[in-house]
Amino acid sequence: MTKQNCGETDACRLSKARHIMTSSAKVETVVKLGALVGEGPVWEESEQTLLFVDIAGQKIHRWSPATNQIQSVETSDMVGFVVPRRSGGYVAGVGRSFMAVDWSTQAMTHLLEVDEDKPNNRFNDAKVDPTGRLLAGTMGREVRPAELERQQGSLFSLDSDLRVTKHLSQVDISNGMDWSLDQRTFFYIDSLSLTVDAFDYDTTTGHLDNRRVVYRMAEEEGLPDGMTIDLEGRLWVACYNAGRVINIDPATGVRLHTVSLPAMKTTSCCFGGPDYSDLYVTSASLGLDQSERGRQVEAGNIFKVTGLGVKGRASCFFSG
Ligand code: BGC
Ligand code: CA
Repeated sequence: MTKQNCGETDACRLSKARHIMTSSAKVETVVKLGALVGEGPVWEESEQTLLFVDIAGQKIHRWSPATNQIQSVETSDMVGFVVPRRSGGYVAGVGRSFMAVDWSTQAMTHLLEVDEDKPNNRFNDAKVDPTGRLLAGTMGREVRPAELERQQGSLFSLDSDLRVTKHLSQVDISNGMDWSLDQRTFFYIDSLSLTVDAFDYDTTTGHLDNRRVVYRMAEEEGLPDGMTIDLEGRLWVACYNAGRVINIDPATGVRLHTVSLPAMKTTSCCFGGPDYSDLYVTSASLGLDQSERGRQVEAGNIFKVTGLGVKGRASCFFSG
């Protein structure tokens, strides 16, 4: 099955079917927070809440669709990510530090620091693998969104015994990640490469190998940012500066579907809701000029996409 032959292939037939299936997709604004950089959404099944961060706003938020209430905790520096922890609370990436977060007391405990030799770096996106290992990446300081000294970032993992391993260096903006359904492939985005990449993944050691490109962004698709996988093994990638989430098949490199959102700086997405059939999409407002702000009143809000005809899977807890 090749990309070139689209028209005859399974991928193309599926793509057509998907377009029919998703013609019923509906987008609504669910969190009107106008975040500076809304990011890193994680659905919390036990609470039926959406956890996310405002990186530049230095806040962790938790939103309940049932009550429409938002609870927030402030952080002492930019917060790149937050993930639930099996032993309770969360782990957040604040500045260059892994921090333990006790939600009930709002207490944050410093666990470990990375990139000690790069004081201007900060954590960006992260995700917990199906075995409970946390992968988290860093990036250099931006002068403007997506403008920064190149190759300052790295990709790390944090094991249950709080051991840190560096897997990649010379990363520009460490961003979206997820794992294939059989856990043997790790999908990864370094935004400025304008590609979605894949690695062979060893779940026992966390070792990454055999990097390859599975999708190259079209010019109008902007920068690849956060992403999630669905139960058919296809990726949903938020396109920063392009106001959309694209659905791609990593096996064929074919884009199956595009969902348009009412904010250009779409940053990340995750599946959630009672049966994981809703796609939540975060966005940013930082970096928009006055006139763009006027035209994008939804910038920084969170959107819910329903009627996609696919489901996602539960997020994993950090095992440490
Ligand atoms: C980062 C932003 C960056 C954007 C675009 C986000 O994940 O947090 O700082 O501007 O990606 O690549
Ligand atoms: Ca991101």
